[in-house]
Amino acid sequence: MKRFPAELEGMLSPRGRKVLAGTDRACGVLAAGLRFVGAADLLDAGQSRAALALLGRTMPDVLTAMDVPIPPSAMTGMKRNYSERLPKTVRVRTAEMASARSRGSIRAGEIGLTAMLRSDSFHALAEALSGYRLRQKRGTQVLCYHANDYSGPHNDHHPEEPDARAGYVDLHLTFCNEAVEHQWIVYEHGGHLGQVQSIATLGGVSCYRLPLWHYTTPLAAKPGRAQDARRWVLLGTFLDQPSVAEGTAQ
Ligand SMILES: [Fe+2]
Repeated sequence: MKRFPAELEGMLSPRGRKVLAGTDRACGVLAAGLRFVGAADLLDAGQSRAALALLGRTMPDVLTAMDVPIPPSAMTGMKRNYSERLPKTVRVRTAEMASARSRGSIRAGEIGLTAMLRSDSFHALAEALSGYRLRQKRGTQVLCYHANDYSGPHNDHHPEEPDARAGYVDLHLTFCNEAVEHQWIVYEHGGHLGQVQSIATLGGVSCYRLPLWHYTTPLAAKPGRAQDARRWVLLGTFLDQPSVAEGTAQ
């Protein structure tokens, strides 16, 4: 693969196409009440291997480190027992795509990644899995986890943004290489961080209804493979169509 297909549809497995057609059991599960759904078999296995290789060949030099550790004051500044507060912590690499002229945006454009993330079928898959009517306009991001990279507990709530504060949808495509042993998403259910699912997939698709408390465990490499382990995430963030934001989810 020299370029991503222009439409995500070109990467889908037979089951992925069933989801797109609205006839798979995973369709609409977020609108029905789940907050997270993940499936490892919606993308074609060969296309997923090719996508992993393409990302590994073309994107590493445009990644920048996102490194937000626990501030020492979160502990040293405590005055009372049991009063700890953990701010959002994260360590991951990201392709800077905020500006169209950034190196990440230019490279993503060159390999067809931008077009694929903005394709109609990427949006259609987010709508089909989530069951929400979503705006076409979306945010996109490329993340790359190396060994021991993680994302600490956070909820992705944006109370200052009227269009996002009632809820929105993220769609993630995951491409792990063979040096990855495991990585998990832990998320809230019934007030506890009690749900866990593997996200160490090659060609996995996951869909979230945010805001939602969750964290991503440190990426564990196989023995002796810490230098090589990579997990790529291609993601889109979709706001609800205005009618849905007003409370008529369908
Ligand atoms: Fe998150």
